[in-house]
Amino acid sequence: MKLAMNLYEIVHSDNKAQTLNYFPQVRSACERVLTLADGTTKLNFSSCDYLGMANNALMKNAAINAIQEYGTNISGPMIFCGYTRYHEELEKRYAELFQVNHALMYTTSYQANIGALPVIAEDIELIIMDKLCHVSLYDAVKLSGKPFRVYQHNNMKKLADIIKNNMGKRILIVSDGVFSADGDFCNIPELCKLKSIYSDIMLYIDDAHGVGTLGENGCGLVEVSGCLGEVDIIIGTMSKSFGSTGGFCIIRDDILAQKVKYKSSTYNASRSVSPGVAAASCTALQINQWEGKARRAKLVELVTYAHQRLEGTRVNKQLSVSAVIPVIFETVEQAIAVNSYLLRHNIMVSLFVPPYVEKNKSRLRITIIYHHTKEDIDTLVTVLDNAIEKVIC
Ligand SMILES: Cc1ncc(COP(=O)(O)O)c(C=O)c1O
Repeated sequence: MKLAMNLYEIVHSDNKAQTLNYFPQVRSACERVLTLADGTTKLNFSSCDYLGMANNALMKNAAINAIQEYGTNISGPMIFCGYTRYHEELEKRYAELFQVNHALMYTTSYQANIGALPVIAEDIELIIMDKLCHVSLYDAVKLSGKPFRVYQHNNMKKLADIIKNNMGKRILIVSDGVFSADGDFCNIPELCKLKSIYSDIMLYIDDAHGVGTLGENGCGLVEVSGCLGEVDIIIGTMSKSFGSTGGFCIIRDDILAQKVKYKSSTYNASRSVSPGVAAASCTALQINQWEGKARRAKLVELVTYAHQRLEGTRVNKQLSVSAVIPVIFETVEQAIAVNSYLLRHNIMVSLFVPPYVEKNKSRLRITIIYHHTKEDIDTLVTVLDNAIEKVIC
């Protein structure tokens, strides 16, 4: 069958095919309501603009000014002639925020993982990773070519067993901070405890969803866990909480940071973000300094409200404790049907079906952002509960 490029065909267990309308064309900036190309407006529970910065006037002006100054592209890779004052300022700001000497900026955090992890793993003999790590971490680990073991999600006993069975090896433990599709937290204090008991362990945390949303200064789950001095590598993104585009890599050890800087392919063999994006990111980190605490406080209030409102409904949100709230279904069909119901009622969430998740873990991912109101959350909960009753029960 010939499909249009934005239609994805999924075959159900009874061999019936269904097309899903992915890549909806959006005709408005990221706010609490999105306008689509068909003219409809949708309450936006699909974006990761947690701190509500994606349409920020100061950031937009910073980008426009940088484009006026430098144009829309950089002259080459950063290592030769593509490193502007905005790129330099941005790396300084990351380093300042996380209190390290050096930080590296990448075009996305996906690029940060596939660029930095293989270099970091050069002297590593075994990588151990959480089963629910983001796909970019799986890709990065495979690219490293190092042997790896996967432990059951957040199961610290299983992790400790793997470590004990590999005593004497240099080990890299890899995990999401806030898990991207489940919204629960990695047990970072326990990882640090294991690191202190067994020698030769390095900790690598990708906290794309935690940086910005958590911590006094917005340094994410590692900060909240009181482990900023113990986690060796932290990956963050500018593309979620901070409303821009880009990834970054925080490395505590200066020599390792230098090695990654010069050896990481996605840092050197690929262009960086345009000066406009780098300037917008610098401004985002300034806004984080000025207003981050207040924005996080409002987000926490909304997230707490959403979790409370979902209690006692038909929604199975599993272990989520964050702004990422998955609604998990037993079958792909159920997830698709509930998603269609929500869209008909002008609510947009993210639909995850195979190949993005296992069949029986198909889900709708709700994300709470700073722009939402409690009334928006009330609407979502009511419609979602009705949808589940009508479609499934
Ligand atoms: C844990 C994790 N790492 C990396 C990424 C990729 O983020 P970016 O858009 O910056 O590449 C995501 C986003 O989906 C994520 O959830």
